[in-house]
Amino acid sequence: MNRPDPSTTTKAVAKAETVAVAPPCAMVIFGAGGDLTKRLVAPALYNLVTAKRLPDGFRLVGVDHGNKTVEDWRKSLTDMMNEFVASHDGEFQADHIDQTAWRWLTDRMTYLQGDFTEPQTYNRLKEHLAGLDKTAGTAGNHLFYLAVADRFFSVVVAALGAADMVTEKDGQWRRVVIEKPFGHDLSSAKALNAAILKTLQEHQIYRMDHFLGKETVQNIMALRFANGLFEPLWNRQHIDHVQITAAETVGVERRGKFYEQTGALRDMVPNHMFQLLALTAMEPPISFDAEAVREKKAEVIQAIRPVSPRRAMKDAVRGQYDAGTVLGKQAQAYRREPDVAPDSNTESYIAWKLQIDNWRWAGVPFYLRTGKYLRRRWTEVAIRFHQAPYTLFRGTHVEQMNPNWMILRIQPDEGISLQFAAKRPGPTVTLGNVSMDFAYETYFAMAPNTGYETLIYDCMTGDATLFQRADNIEAGWRAVQPILDFWASNPAKDLATYAAGSDGPTAADELLARDGRAWRPLE
Ligand code: BG6
Repeated sequence: MNRPDPSTTTKAVAKAETVAVAPPCAMVIFGAGGDLTKRLVAPALYNLVTAKRLPDGFRLVGVDHGNKTVEDWRKSLTDMMNEFVASHDGEFQADHIDQTAWRWLTDRMTYLQGDFTEPQTYNRLKEHLAGLDKTAGTAGNHLFYLAVADRFFSVVVAALGAADMVTEKDGQWRRVVIEKPFGHDLSSAKALNAAILKTLQEHQIYRMDHFLGKETVQNIMALRFANGLFEPLWNRQHIDHVQITAAETVGVERRGKFYEQTGALRDMVPNHMFQLLALTAMEPPISFDAEAVREKKAEVIQAIRPVSPRRAMKDAVRGQYDAGTVLGKQAQAYRREPDVAPDSNTESYIAWKLQIDNWRWAGVPFYLRTGKYLRRRWTEVAIRFHQAPYTLFRGTHVEQMNPNWMILRIQPDEGISLQFAAKRPGPTVTLGNVSMDFAYETYFAMAPNTGYETLIYDCMTGDATLFQRADNIEAGWRAVQPILDFWASNPAKDLATYAAGSDGPTAADELLARDGRAWRPLE
């Protein structure tokens, strides 16, 4: 590909630099001592400081049951940051920590020890926040970030309501961030929505899906709707099928207890995979206003064809990893992982062929697959266009011509490639496959990013575009519920195994082979 056009590159960078500073606010993290805070939220806040997006009137309040001082809290976050720098391997990557920026953040921290179930905790927090509003310039804006186990989501929200801490008045906002798991099936998701909507209004709730913090995921909309070139082809007339892959090289690690109750379908599909699906398949919104975008995303998920038990058996493949070698290291079988039952039927892999019943996509299958302990870490959306209807080239048959693919590479190696046929140089006409590649890092200066920066910044600025409305969440669960039900009533019937470090179970290959198709290799 040609070198980047410097004018466009400069413009992109210049635009990024003019992004406004967030309004003053106090951000309260419930679960200040937990992994999510240490590994993602604190590094993301640090990145926002270095990008000069946080205002002077920003304060960070940690709430947790641990009997700690603010110094202890600061130290545990600082240790984690140093560990990231030393290991070069983690959610936050940097060669060094800018001490001035880190101090800027840690100087703004306070810590409050308290039990999430105790009204006292909220009364003390309320008083503390009132003090910050008076003395620290937080302007009465409060962002409550629930980095807690999901069983506490509705408990914390109800307690905030009981302490009258979420009423918005005089232009002061109150927002609550909740991350997945948002329910574990349709009825629990509905119950959770109903519970928090007793206290909060929809516009105050920021249901977060961290996939939407990934630049390349957001770029799917830019690719489709900021270019005149692709959208005319983006339909059943031109697209044969779509493959969406989220392959991981990690196993369940220390999360056996959680994963046993969850499995790959619940963990990845109604949330992360459906975000990729929705952005790829949604109709153009009338604007980039949060409501317009979320409306279109909800519509396309609602259009997923309901799965009958027969189709669940035929079109969904569940797999579980056996022992093997992943990235050169021995990996043990899922059933031998800590906190996993030795006869567990929980799936660590799912492949699913689904149909979207609308005019754009009728008859175009979407194949989804995701799993743990696979050969490569690879997340992509691959669009396979129809074959040319016949070939002009003597001695070449259409079947021998390779199809056109457009690959949206989400991670790693972020970029987009378009694959097509070209004539090989020489006197005879023979075709070769070529690829036109766009790599993010060639064009744009990539700022250090945990994926949470944009999401946290958007909460502060009140932009809910990248967050899930109640109906988005429920539509996702509704679509997967028949498979969950079918699997629950047939616990071990069709569970396939695959060697750790492979491309997944052969049953997943058969799912596509049945349609005369094949998965793209995990590149
Ligand atoms: C989480 C899942 O939501 O997403 C994990 O619970 C999964 O099981 C992770 O590993 C994948 O996210 P990422 O950003 O590492 O691709």
